[in-house]
Amino acid sequence: MDQSGAIDNLLQEERVFRPLPQLVIEANVNPQELEGARKFAAMDPAGYWEEAADELDWFKKWDQVLDDKDAPFYRWFPGARCNIVYNALDRHIETANKNKLALIWEGEPGDQRKYTYFELYREVNRFANALRSLGVRKGDRVVIYMPPLPETVISMLAAAKIGAVHSVVFAGFSAKALRKRINDAQAKLLITSDGFYRNGRIIGLKETADEALVGACADCVEAMVVVRRCNIGVDMVDGRDFQYEDLVRQERNEAPTEVMDADDPLFLLYTSGTTGTPKGVVHSHGGYMVGVHRTLTTVFDIKPTDIFWCTADPGWVTGHSAGIYGPLMAGTTSVMYEGHPNYPQADRLWSIVAKYGVTIFYTAPTMIRMLMRFGTQYPKQHDLSSLRLLGTVGEPISPEAWIWLYKNIGRSECPVLDTWWQTETGMFMISPLPISVLKPGSVTKALPGVEVDVVDRQGNPVPPGKGGLLVVTQPWPSMMTGLWNDDDRFKEYWSQIPGVYYAGDVARRDEDGYIWIQGRADDVINIAGHRIGSAELEAAFGVHPAVCECAAVGVPDQIKGEAAKAFVMLNEGFEPGDELIKDLKKTIRNELGPVAVIKSIEFRDSLPKTRSGKLMRRVLKAEENGFEIGDLTGLDED
Ligand code: PRX
Repeated sequence: MDQSGAIDNLLQEERVFRPLPQLVIEANVNPQELEGARKFAAMDPAGYWEEAADELDWFKKWDQVLDDKDAPFYRWFPGARCNIVYNALDRHIETANKNKLALIWEGEPGDQRKYTYFELYREVNRFANALRSLGVRKGDRVVIYMPPLPETVISMLAAAKIGAVHSVVFAGFSAKALRKRINDAQAKLLITSDGFYRNGRIIGLKETADEALVGACADCVEAMVVVRRCNIGVDMVDGRDFQYEDLVRQERNEAPTEVMDADDPLFLLYTSGTTGTPKGVVHSHGGYMVGVHRTLTTVFDIKPTDIFWCTADPGWVTGHSAGIYGPLMAGTTSVMYEGHPNYPQADRLWSIVAKYGVTIFYTAPTMIRMLMRFGTQYPKQHDLSSLRLLGTVGEPISPEAWIWLYKNIGRSECPVLDTWWQTETGMFMISPLPISVLKPGSVTKALPGVEVDVVDRQGNPVPPGKGGLLVVTQPWPSMMTGLWNDDDRFKEYWSQIPGVYYAGDVARRDEDGYIWIQGRADDVINIAGHRIGSAELEAAFGVHPAVCECAAVGVPDQIKGEAAKAFVMLNEGFEPGDELIKDLKKTIRNELGPVAVIKSIEFRDSLPKTRSGKLMRRVLKAEENGFEIGDLTGLDED
């Protein structure tokens, strides 16, 4: 079915699914408690989040829950001192969690590594000491360019433990994209691996990392740490490059945890916006840990016996909050898989669920759509009875994919929790709980302590059934604390519609108050749940000498949800053709990396523009799709 059909269904979907009575009885939060929490949070948001903060450990408590004097530069828990790693690791060593599995990792070739909380704590301490001996200090930036490996988790936690700011760059980004991020962050240290396994092949990573640092580029980087994953020979630069194993071998098992101010930065994560330059979203220790801990444990009803698997790569916010920090703070066991979901065949994910007895499985709709293609024979080969909750994130899920997941993976018993959030929000914002009445394709309602609305461009709420812009009307603890070195761009989130946070999504609320996300309202393309800016793609095309001008837009794709299509105007002397298309695609790969997939390229003699010369991507998109994303009736067009 094409995307327009999916959206029509979203608009018409009327099925509801009620939780099984047993599930309601066993849930940590029952319907009355949820209602109570909503009322309490609406009346006293600071009180609600203070209670959530009290569930975590602090070196010193806050003077105030929220300081909004300098809005939109909100400060959560000012005066408090903490470290998220204390909550994710240190405190568990004093409890029964000490010898519980924190991390189960499986490599693509089938190798496994398991870490108890105690083992992970010690690994992190050893690497934290190594980072300190390399001269990394509180506030320094550490870029982590790694596939999903235990050392990726260890690096993030070790950096945070010593107060350094980590920035994970997805291994599918190119050398140039990596360089851009390193330079923007002015990183002192780069951590990478020799390579990783993907779809039966070894992908070299160290050489890409080297390329990012070539010549005087990214000369802020003083050292590079290389994790040996594939045992492939790599060139090591004397005095700059260090093998991970060599560094940690001699280090002590204990390392002091840096005492941080609640709003000291924890990590930067680059994400795409509407200009050619990615933005470095900043999250800090205090607010982030409170928001993530409360929402992850509430939505996923975490219990001591759970095995939690979030399939997202650590290079995205989902990997940070739901793959690493959230599960570790909750003291649960997290699963991580290195490789391709279809390697060696389309049942790999189900074999992992069965092997480790995964109880909660959190993934992206694109993954479901891809696996659906292979039919039900693959999940049927495995015992998936350990599963009790399913979740999705990153893009709208069509009712078809929702029902497939529910029926074939969840035995028509496990609720599918569709969670809406963003890199900028840090935590889940709109989501059902296991006890909620579900409508396939709807993210249901805002979580307690989160206030959202669907409004027109002036900020007036639109009536039920009408499309509008999704906004968050109250601050929330794990909101980004800024954009790295770009206060003006940060303020734009709050100035598009004055006084509220503009999420950039089109949504609709139904008669029951349920929210249906319909897609991006801006020039951001959501490819397989990953954001990429039209402007970013266009700038990358512009590097090619043949390109005079280009417009990149999102077009429907059965598997990826959206894919990028480029309309290219050529310079004098260049002829359209297959060779040129190949070459242009190569340029994009070079500029941005394999993460930026171009589905098709069309050559045009002119591109639609406004009278003032602004590209009208909307026109091209409507031409391609036969519709405009979302029902925007009620919104004034600009
Ligand atoms: O468009 C929305 C979509 O993903 C965007 C955020 O992307 P990113 O910052 O990369 O974070 C993705 C994972 C947290 C949103 O603006 N999105 C996210 N979750 C959903 C969604 N669209 C529909 N339904 C969702 N559940």
